Amino acid sequence: MRAAHSHISGEGAVFGNPGAANTRRVEPVRDADAGLKRNICTPRKNDVPACWLMISCIMKYFLGMLRNIRIWLPSVVAVLAFLAQTGCGHDARALKDIFPRGDIFTVWAHSDIHPRGNAEMIHYETAVRDVADYIPGINAALVAGDIVMGSRSAPVQYPWFLSVRKTAAIPFWCEIAGNHDAEDIPSFLRYTGKPLHYAALFGNVLFICMSDEVYDHPTQISDAAFEWWKRLVIQNRDKIIVTMTHGCLAQSGLLASFDWGQRVEGSERFARVLGEYPIDMWISGHAHTPYYMNGKWSRPFWFKNILFIDVSAIRKNKGTNIQSYILVFSKNSPDLAVLLRNHETHSFIASRSLRHTLRHPFEWDGRTGGAVVSVPQ
Ligand SMILES: [Fe+2]
Repeated sequence: MRAAHSHISGEGAVFGNPGAANTRRVEPVRDADAGLKRNICTPRKNDVPACWLMISCIMKYFLGMLRNIRIWLPSVVAVLAFLAQTGCGHDARALKDIFPRGDIFTVWAHSDIHPRGNAEMIHYETAVRDVADYIPGINAALVAGDIVMGSRSAPVQYPWFLSVRKTAAIPFWCEIAGNHDAEDIPSFLRYTGKPLHYAALFGNVLFICMSDEVYDHPTQISDAAFEWWKRLVIQNRDKIIVTMTHGCLAQSGLLASFDWGQRVEGSERFARVLGEYPIDMWISGHAHTPYYMNGKWSRPFWFKNILFIDVSAIRKNKGTNIQSYILVFSKNSPDLAVLLRNHETHSFIASRSLRHTLRHPFEWDGRTGGAVVSVPQ
């Protein structure tokens, strides 16, 4: 284009009449341009459009690949292996069929309900209906934070949460505040009736529940609450200990732990204690990790048999499911079943469920439980 322009200018300069030169020279250029457009845009008879040529080349390439078993077989195996360890393995059996012996204590561990509007309330309602209809008789529920979206939605969403969960007929509830709930801590305290941090005892299982204290991405737990937790862990070594926070521990090995915004700030305080006084399980939410991804649970070798699980999330985002975990303790046994629940398909996901050996056999008289036994001073 630059060359054509300089040529015309040169001609104009020679004849001393730039306008005439331009007029004379522009005509053929316009014709040529129009011709070019005709060639590209108006296929003549027997012309094959370029896109069809490209499609046929791509198809020939893939058909050639299919003829070579060494290329497609590993790909098929890889895809099947991925499906087998993620989305496959739906188990629609009821708990009484999975545990026919009975004598079990079941806990519904879930988190991250916080609907972004009325339309998303259906996610928690679906989960509660699934629990009520297909897993009746759950003994207790743990909610690992983010019940409501924030301070503006709190007056509507807390009463809604309390009325919806009633239909699951679960007698004991342990909730903590997540980062969204921490925007309005007075509402969390008023509606749940729980302190920010507390420990509850069910049989010989001590649940230590610690809220996020600040409306920010990383979970923030004060040193006072940490010291209280440390005392409980050291003094209750004869019990099964489960800790619940909104964010996960940086040393948990969970997928979420690679993101600073998903962790507990100052995790090393807790990790130092766990190195010497291991607990049985650490439950967190916050991450919204879909179950088809690896890293929902972890048992890192640098701790002595501590199971970390990410129980999020009830709220459904693009491409995720309404999911949570059901924990099944068996009386007089150290075996704990940790079952991932897809509430939309009313089934457990075998590939994301596991068994964990507790430090002590589970003991429970079947009646008592749910008492708040300690709060930080
Ligand atoms: Fe969340």
